[in-house]
Amino acid sequence: MNIGIIGSGGREHALCLKLNESKIIEKIYCFPGNAGTSKIAENYDINIDNFSEIKKISEKKNIELLIVGPEKPLVNGIVDFFKNTKIKIFGPNKISSQLEGSKTFTKMLCKKFNIPTSNFEIFKNREDAIRFLNNSNFPIVIKADGLAAGKGVYICGSKEESISAVHEIFDGKFGNAELVLIEEFLKGEEMSYFVICDGKNYSFFQTAQDHKRVGEGDTGSNTGGMGAYSPSRLNNLELQNKINKKIIEPTLKGLEDLNTQYVGFLYVGLMIVDNEPYLIEYNVRMGDPECQTILPLLKSDLGKIILSCCNNDLKSEKIEWLNEKSICFVLCSNGYPGNYKKNIKIDNIKNLEIKEKGHFIFHAGTKSIDKDIYSDGGRVLNVVITSDTFTDCKNKALEVLKKINWMDGFYRKDIGYKVTNL
Ligand code: AMP
Ligand code: GLY
Repeated sequence: MNIGIIGSGGREHALCLKLNESKIIEKIYCFPGNAGTSKIAENYDINIDNFSEIKKISEKKNIELLIVGPEKPLVNGIVDFFKNTKIKIFGPNKISSQLEGSKTFTKMLCKKFNIPTSNFEIFKNREDAIRFLNNSNFPIVIKADGLAAGKGVYICGSKEESISAVHEIFDGKFGNAELVLIEEFLKGEEMSYFVICDGKNYSFFQTAQDHKRVGEGDTGSNTGGMGAYSPSRLNNLELQNKINKKIIEPTLKGLEDLNTQYVGFLYVGLMIVDNEPYLIEYNVRMGDPECQTILPLLKSDLGKIILSCCNNDLKSEKIEWLNEKSICFVLCSNGYPGNYKKNIKIDNIKNLEIKEKGHFIFHAGTKSIDKDIYSDGGRVLNVVITSDTFTDCKNKALEVLKKINWMDGFYRKDIGYKVTNL
């Protein structure tokens, strides 16, 4: 069958490469894709918020299945839009996507089903929020409701900092925020846990750990993700069982009570405190760059797995993994996550041949002009290595990054520092 992948990041390039191996897929179209996907698929430069345009092209190209990478079209209801058409679409519908789109929706669900999460209060105006902060302990976490592209979360060490965060949010820094969440600060180690769901059942889809901060040692501003490794060093069967029973199953039950079903990848952002999981957030998609570390470890046919989810038949698929480690380093434009320049040539990528097994370069913000590759975003390239040890992955990834030697970009050299030898 022909399929379409919606999105343009490293996650979508990794999906594209894996789906290109599928026995059931003939041709892949990417909406809009990037310079990397253009080597294995046909890119269509369209606005992914325009669902009618996606439908028109999908019909023209005989696309039978669409796979949605990023959250925004999901939260805006792309799955509902395609519901009564002949085109299957993989991802959660608008109601279920509130798990990512509305932090208050998720917190209320946690309350109702006793799902472990930090204690929280929701405020509609700044006066009440500030009154609450006057009697709080610090650090404390302040969040804008709604999608904020990984921003909109403040970890505040003092009353002054937290009051200024409340003002920034209500002043509209992250769009029209009508609600502010104030949460207890959880002290532990984070883990990203993934499952894939078919509306009735779900299967484990690996763990990872991303590095969100821009600076080495996990310092500085938050970013979309500077790198990741898989599996997480925290995962164990006992913990996995707790996550499934205490968090995922009640969540899916909560959605069922709303007369809906969850189909798609579900990303469970957790804080692990003494081998106990606490939900920090849900994302209704794969993580980026977690996806780039996880998919190279997948042995099974991703196309078949996704199609079985669209047919409510995930049980018929066995999901198998390589018993290896994986690390992803993200090469960014200088200045990211602040201001950065675009359209800068990445000279050495053109002649860099990646032939070794377990070595991947996924493109994120890139575009090709003639035969050259140019930067087109903040996160530009992802170097991913799979191997028997994390240390080997890291050393090999750093060698590739040295060869790319892009003077207009930077990367964190310490990705996976908790699992590698220095
Ligand atoms: P979120 O967008 O909700 O994932 O938050 C972004 C980041 O802020 C998370 O990955 C955590 O590092 C941190 N964070 C969010 N909520 C909490 C919390 N309640 N306690 C500690 N850290 C948190
Ligand atoms: N890596 C974090 C995210 O995809 O949200």
